[in-house]
Amino acid sequence: MKVREILRQKGSAVVSVPPTATVLDALKVMAEKNIGGVLVMDGEKVLGIFTERDYARKIVLKGKTSAESRISEVMVTELVTVTPDHDTSDCMKLMTTNAIRHLPVMENGKLVGLISIGDVVKAVIDEQQSTIQHLEQYIAGS
Ligand SMILES: NC(=O)c1ccc[n+]([C@@H]2O[C@H](COP(=O)([O-])OP(=O)(O)OC[C@H]3O[C@@H](n4cnc5c(N)ncnc54)[C@H](O)[C@@H]3O)[C@@H](O)[C@H]2O)c1
Repeated sequence: MKVREILRQKGSAVVSVPPTATVLDALKVMAEKNIGGVLVMDGEKVLGIFTERDYARKIVLKGKTSAESRISEVMVTELVTVTPDHDTSDCMKLMTTNAIRHLPVMENGKLVGLISIGDVVKAVIDEQQSTIQHLEQYIAGS
């Protein structure tokens, strides 16, 4: 399955915060939306990503407070991204190789969505389920 199809199913809306947000602001948004990471965006420009891992390692372990830390100080700026034409296998390889769980989706330099490891796992399970169904129908019909 292509990333395009995953986005069609889950939607293309991306949850983001501006670089001026505090880490506490970002954590509140993540809790409210029940997600593990937010993109940091200045208008349409993607500046970075902030995830629960960044909070654990760059705030808690460093003895900093989330209310006094800016998201721009702790976000990851080197983004690994995909395009709508990548497939689930490409995403799994990128997530495994880079030990990451979120992939922003870019098309012609513009952000068009974000997929997480859970979206990819669901897509793979759906694909396998559909293959099993086809094989069962084929066997039953022969
Ligand atoms: N059943 C499903 O369709 C489904 C899909 C994905 C995740 N999940 C479950 O959610 C839990 C956590 O998932 P996860 O580790 O993949 O990551 P996560 O909690 O960050 O993501 C959960 C969902 O929110 C979306 N999301 C995350 N950050 C977003 C952002 N900034 N903007 C827009 N959408 C965003 C993801 O694409 C995913 O669909 C797991 O228990 C997983 O099984 C379920």
